[in-house]
Amino acid sequence: MTDELRERKYAQIPELEVRNLCKYFPAGKGRVLKAVDDVSFVIRKGQTLGIVGESGCGKTTCGKTCIGMLMKNSGEVLFQGQDVHGMSKKERFAFTSKVQMIFQDPYASLDPHQKVYNIIAEGIKVHKLAKDRKDEEGQVMRLLEMVGLNTEHANRNVHEFSGGQRQRIGIARALSVNPEFLFCDEPISALDVSIQAQIINLLAELKAERNLTMLFIAHDLSMVKHISDNIGVMYLGNMVEMSPSVELYAKPYHPYTEALLSAVPIADPDASEKRKRILLRGDVPSPVNPPEGCRFCERCTKCMEVCRTKRPPLKEVSAGHFVACHLYS
Ligand SMILES: Nc1ncnc2c1ncn2[C@@H]1O[C@H](COP(=O)(O)OP(=O)(O)OP(=O)(O)O)[C@@H](O)[C@H]1O
Ligand SMILES: [Mg+2]
Repeated sequence: MTDELRERKYAQIPELEVRNLCKYFPAGKGRVLKAVDDVSFVIRKGQTLGIVGESGCGKTTCGKTCIGMLMKNSGEVLFQGQDVHGMSKKERFAFTSKVQMIFQDPYASLDPHQKVYNIIAEGIKVHKLAKDRKDEEGQVMRLLEMVGLNTEHANRNVHEFSGGQRQRIGIARALSVNPEFLFCDEPISALDVSIQAQIINLLAELKAERNLTMLFIAHDLSMVKHISDNIGVMYLGNMVEMSPSVELYAKPYHPYTEALLSAVPIADPDASEKRKRILLRGDVPSPVNPPEGCRFCERCTKCMEVCRTKRPPLKEVSAGHFVACHLYS
């Protein structure tokens, strides 16, 4: 095979491919909690998939299972064509430098008594990425500058920093091993609103500079719009809609997505006044005993008879725009 052919073949392989992924937890008395139930998606190199949905819908479980932090029950996860759940120890070690995670809470995910230098240098040491101590120091300093911190911060302890600064340290730590893929699990939800946009902008810049591929989880649709190429909407363990980002905001199909979008603040007061806020009825049902048909049916204002008995498949309604709803079948 020529180099060109090999390159073309490689370009067709998605960075991450998830097929019919299921992750269940035991819920006592022989019952199971279906945290992620038959979820499929693809992320191409350099693209970001944002996943949104209410608390408990399975976003974190889905992401962690995708990067092998949790075992799957069934389905398949392929990273650059390689089975994430079937790696040898050596393959797994290489995978841990290619794939990194940024956590939700920078207060919980960084040891407050550690020096910033040690936190950032750890991955460089483990993966032997520096020639010598001088090279290591140079890399740490460059990473600090890259995430907008001062190089003098290297010798301070984590507890001296604010939430936003801690998240920058977390990002520098993740980038220290030159990853190709970032799993960001609500990286801004623990931060002040004023800081949130700064961190999103930083991640967007780094993504563009390094051609990173990202799985970006968020609670609501307001913050993922600008960073995501595609957005997936999860409800109770299922992906109910998936679409290119711009199109999802312009033309949502699923009644759940419509409700989530109606809660996104609009800057223009006129437009904001005209828009109707859709209030969802009731609470999210338990994933231990979810409704038989469409999992959203009990809260849906457009619920039909078929929705109560038959689960709608995820169907392509326009190019790259998928929705799981009987209104469109
Ligand atoms: N280790 C576990 N053992 C048992 N149940 C779990 C475990 N982890 C998650 N769950 C359950 O799985 C479901 C999905 O949880 P998950 O944390 O993935 O949701 P989430 O969408 O990330 O929520 P949040 O927005 O609050 O972070 C929830 O019902 C949760 O209680
Ligand atoms: Mg979560």
